[in-house]
Amino acid sequence: MEFCFKFTTLTILLLFLLSCSFPSSEAYDALDPNGNITIKWDVITWTPDGYVAVVTMFNFQQYRHIQAPGWTLGWTWAKKEVIWSMMGGQTTEQGDCSKYKGNVPHCCKKDPTVVDLLPGTPYNQQIANCCKGGVIGSWGQDPTNAASSFQVSVGAAGTTNKTVRVPRNFTLRAPGPGYTCGPAKIVKPTKYVSSDGRRVTQAMMTWNVTCTYSQFLAQKTPSCCVSLSSFYNDTIVPCPTCTCGCQNNATDPGSCVNPDSPYLASVVSQQEKSNKFAPLVQCTSHMCPIRVHWHVKQNYKDYWRVKVTITNFNYRMNYTLWNLVIQHPNFDNLTQIFSFNYKPLNPYQDINDTAMLWGVKYYNDLLMEAGPLGNAQSEFLFRKDKPTFTFEKGWAFPRRIYFNGDNCVMPPPDEYPYLPSATTRHNVSFLQLLVALLALLFACF
Ligand SMILES: *[C@@H]1O[C@H](CO)[C@@H](O)[C@H](O)[C@H]1NC(C)=O
Ligand SMILES: *[C@@H]1O[C@H](CO)[C@@H](O)[C@H](O)[C@H]1NC(C)=O
Ligand SMILES: *[C@@H]1O[C@H](CO)[C@@H](O)[C@H](O)[C@H]1NC(C)=O
Ligand SMILES: *[C@@H]1O[C@H](CO)[C@@H](O)[C@H](O)[C@H]1NC(C)=O
Ligand SMILES: *[C@@H]1O[C@H](CO)[C@@H](O)[C@H](O)[C@H]1NC(C)=O
Ligand SMILES: *[C@@H]1O[C@H](CO)[C@@H](O)[C@H](O)[C@H]1NC(C)=O
Ligand SMILES: *[C@@H]1O[C@H](CO)[C@@H](O)[C@H](O)[C@H]1NC(C)=O
Ligand SMILES: *[C@@H]1O[C@H](CO)[C@@H](O)[C@H](O)[C@H]1NC(C)=O
Ligand SMILES: *[C@@H]1O[C@H](CO)[C@@H](O)[C@H](O)[C@H]1NC(C)=O
Ligand SMILES: *[C@@H]1O[C@H](CO)[C@@H](O)[C@H](O)[C@H]1NC(C)=O
Repeated sequence: MEFCFKFTTLTILLLFLLSCSFPSSEAYDALDPNGNITIKWDVITWTPDGYVAVVTMFNFQQYRHIQAPGWTLGWTWAKKEVIWSMMGGQTTEQGDCSKYKGNVPHCCKKDPTVVDLLPGTPYNQQIANCCKGGVIGSWGQDPTNAASSFQVSVGAAGTTNKTVRVPRNFTLRAPGPGYTCGPAKIVKPTKYVSSDGRRVTQAMMTWNVTCTYSQFLAQKTPSCCVSLSSFYNDTIVPCPTCTCGCQNNATDPGSCVNPDSPYLASVVSQQEKSNKFAPLVQCTSHMCPIRVHWHVKQNYKDYWRVKVTITNFNYRMNYTLWNLVIQHPNFDNLTQIFSFNYKPLNPYQDINDTAMLWGVKYYNDLLMEAGPLGNAQSEFLFRKDKPTFTFEKGWAFPRRIYFNGDNCVMPPPDEYPYLPSATTRHNVSFLQLLVALLALLFACF
C-alpha cells in the first residue's frame, strides 16, 4: 500500500504515544494512583431514637481541590431515617415532614443533599473544619485545609451498632460531576487523643466511603490545551483547533464572546443566571477555558530555561488555588523556579519527572477571569540532564500537563517546533505507523 504520511520523525510520535497520555474512562490517574476523597462517619453518641455522627470528608488527592461553589454530598437512607438537626452544614431541601408534629426535623427526605455553610456562620452553628463554603484544598497543595466536616443528628434510626443501617448510594459533586462513590464500609472506630495526649476516647462506630474522580465523567470535552514555542524556531504551535469545542455561530450563537464585543458585560451576567457551571469563553480557535503555553526560552552551556504562561479564557471563572501538574524528564534537575510554588510528585518513587506547581499566596494564587489580568507566568531553570538532554525530537517539550487535575490536550507531536538542523522529513509508510501503534498498545495495556 503506497499510502504515505509525512512526519518529522517517527521517534517523536513514539515518544508521545509511549507516554500514554490519553484521558482514561477509568477513575485511575497514573500521576496520583491513590488519590481519593474519603468520607468518614463517626457515630459519637447514640440517642433515644438514633445517633449523632460527625461526617468528615478528607481530600486525599495530591492536586485536585474543590473550589467554589464547593461540594454537595448526597446519600439514600437505608430505612426511614430523618435528620433532626445539623451543625456546620445543612440540607438543601427539608422534604415532607408532615408526619411530624411539634418538633419538626431539619430534613425528612429519603435522599438528603448536604452542603457546607458559608464563612461567617455564627459560632453556635459551627464545628471544627466546617463553614468554608464547601471549598477543600488538596492533600499535596494545602493539607491543613484538605478536610471538611459537619455533624448530623439522625432520628428514626438504629440505636446500637447492631441495629443501625449505613446509608447507601453516596453521591458527591465537587462542584460539578466527576466523582463516583463506593459503598459505606464499617471500619475500626476512630480514636481521639485528648489535647494533652493523656486520654484516648473512641467513636461508637465508624464507616468510610471512598469516592474517586474520573475526568471522563466530569466533562465530555476537554477544558484545557497546550501551545508550544521555542527560541530556535519562529513557529508558535497553537492549541489544536476545536480542542474544547468549535465556534459555530449558526447552530450555537453565543457559545463564545469576543473581548471587544459591546455585549460582553450583558452576556456574562445573563449566563450567570442561566448556568452556574458552564464556562463562557472568549472566542478562540480552540475554545478552551484554559491554555498553558510552554516556551523554550534560552539555552546556556549547562542550563536551559522555560517560560510557562497560563491564560484564562473563561469570563465566568476566577480560579482560586489553581494548580498545574507537569511531566518532563528534566524535572529531576530543576534548579530554580520563579513565582510559583513547586513540589515534586513521585507516584513511583524511582522517577522524579513530575512537578506540581501552584500560585504564591496573595501574589498569583488567583487566576483572574478572562481579560488583561487573566494569566499567570513562571520560568523554570533546568540543569541539562546530560546525556539525555537535547533540543531535538521535541524532547524539550512537556510530556503532559494537567490544570486543576484535568488533562490538557497537546498539539500533535509532528507539529512541534523543531531545530532547523533536524528538518529532514521521513516518509513513514502505513506499515511503519501500524507497527508504532501496536508498540503503543503493548506499552499501555
Ligand atoms: C484513599 O487514599 C488514602 C490516602 O492516599 C489511601 O491510604 C487509601 O488506601 C485510599 N483508599 C482507597 C480505597 O483507594
Ligand atoms: C458493637 O459493639 C460491641 C461492644 O460495644 C463490640 O463488641 C462489637 O464488636 C461492635 N460491633 C460492630 C459491628 O462494631
Ligand atoms: C442510587 O442513585 C441512582 C442515581 O441517583 C438511582 O438511579 C438509584 O436508583 C439509586 N439506588 C438506590 C438503591 O437508591
Ligand atoms: C477510614 O477513613 C479514615 C479517614 O480517612 C482513615 O484514617 C482510615 O484508615 C479509613 N479506614 C479504612 C479501613 O479505610
Ligand atoms: C462568530 O461571531 C463572532 C461575533 O459574534 C465573530 O467574531 C466570529 O468570527 C464568528 N465566527 C464564525 C466562525 O463565523
Ligand atoms: C473575579 O474577581 C474579581 C475581583 O475580585 C471580581 O471583580 C469579579 O467579579 C470576579 N469574577 C467572577 C466571574 O467571579
Ligand atoms: C526531585 O527533584 C527535586 C528537585 O531537584 C528535589 O528537590 C527532590 O528531592 C527530588 N526527589 C527525589 C525523590 O529524587
Ligand atoms: C539529574 O538528576 C538525576 C537524578 O536525580 C541525576 O542522576 C543526575 O546526575 C542529575 N544531572 C545533573 C546534571 O545534575
Ligand atoms: C519550525 O517548526 C515548524 C513546525 O514543526 C516547521 O514547519 C518549520 O519548518 C520550522 N522552521 C525552521 C526554520 O526549521
Ligand atoms: C517522500 O515522499 C515524497 C512523495 O510522496 C517524495 O517526493 C520524497 O522524495 C520522499 N522523501 C523521502 C526522504 O523519501
